[in-house]
Amino acid sequence: MLSKKLRYLRYGLGMIFASLLLAGCSSERPSILLPVSPKANAEANLFLIIFWISVAVFVIVEAALFYSVIRFRGKNAEDVPPQIHGSVPLEIAWTTAPALVLVVVFVLTWQTLQATAAPPLDSMPVLVTGNQFWWKFDYLDQQVSTANELHLPVGRPVRLLLETKDVIHSFWVPQLGGKMDLIAGHQNVLWLQADKAGEYHGQCAELCGASHANMRTKVIAESQVNFDAWIQSQKTPSTTPTNPALVKGRDLFLGNACIGCHMIRGTTAAGAVGPDLTHVASRSTIAAGLLENTSANMARWIDNPPAIKPGVLMPKLNLSQDDITSIVAYLQSLK
Ligand code: CUA
Repeated sequence: MLSKKLRYLRYGLGMIFASLLLAGCSSERPSILLPVSPKANAEANLFLIIFWISVAVFVIVEAALFYSVIRFRGKNAEDVPPQIHGSVPLEIAWTTAPALVLVVVFVLTWQTLQATAAPPLDSMPVLVTGNQFWWKFDYLDQQVSTANELHLPVGRPVRLLLETKDVIHSFWVPQLGGKMDLIAGHQNVLWLQADKAGEYHGQCAELCGASHANMRTKVIAESQVNFDAWIQSQKTPSTTPTNPALVKGRDLFLGNACIGCHMIRGTTAAGAVGPDLTHVASRSTIAAGLLENTSANMARWIDNPPAIKPGVLMPKLNLSQDDITSIVAYLQSLK
């Protein structure tokens, strides 16, 4: 019986250890333990200090417990230990020790909060608007608007001004630090800085409806040169098609309900409900990070958006497969 329990215990501990190991090592999964920003670094350090303090408390308490269980074990079932009530030194010890631990944790947390709260003065402002279920990013100094993929120059602090169109969302890119709610009628400020070029995944962290789990974001940190080039390309209006197949796709797009919600600068499409599609083909994913941006996926998406992202505002438009193919060809030309 006991050996069976021990086997379960060993199995359970093994599982916990393995999952911790995987969570800590995989670069695919965003983890607060793989920080790439000064802020995330400070937060990860704080986490590790508190974690090891907790480990020390656990070991000391368990050691005292096991020592007492073994050392003061009764030899016979009838043995009754001396009946005592209270011990002043012990009461003082186990009240002050946790209080001291909490004071240390409080001071460290306060220091980290102070060091990471205020955005640096030279930070670049980006307006982040939460929508059911996608992210809108407006680069206020550059008059550029994009969706779901946030490009950042490496080493430059960025001030995210968080607002929401509808319900509460929460912006969270674990490797860049922080997590902050987007609240209606109030602007929250979260600052980030990526220290290393790369892609960092984020996820809405506040239950916001049926597709809360499908509300992903990606931060693309790149050199200042690449970032500037990206900004320049995003600023230009959409390319005007000359190829008849693409002209057909554009005309279908402009002649359907698409323009009620989407903007394509350089055309008559000026909707502001859904993502700006002026340079949609330059994004690596569509549908808030759910699908890789390929023609096949885009066709699937346009054919029946709610089937992919439940609760999405974009309706099934009952377009013919031919029309969808033409529209997709046009959208994929919008680099
Ligand atoms: Cu937006 Cu959860």
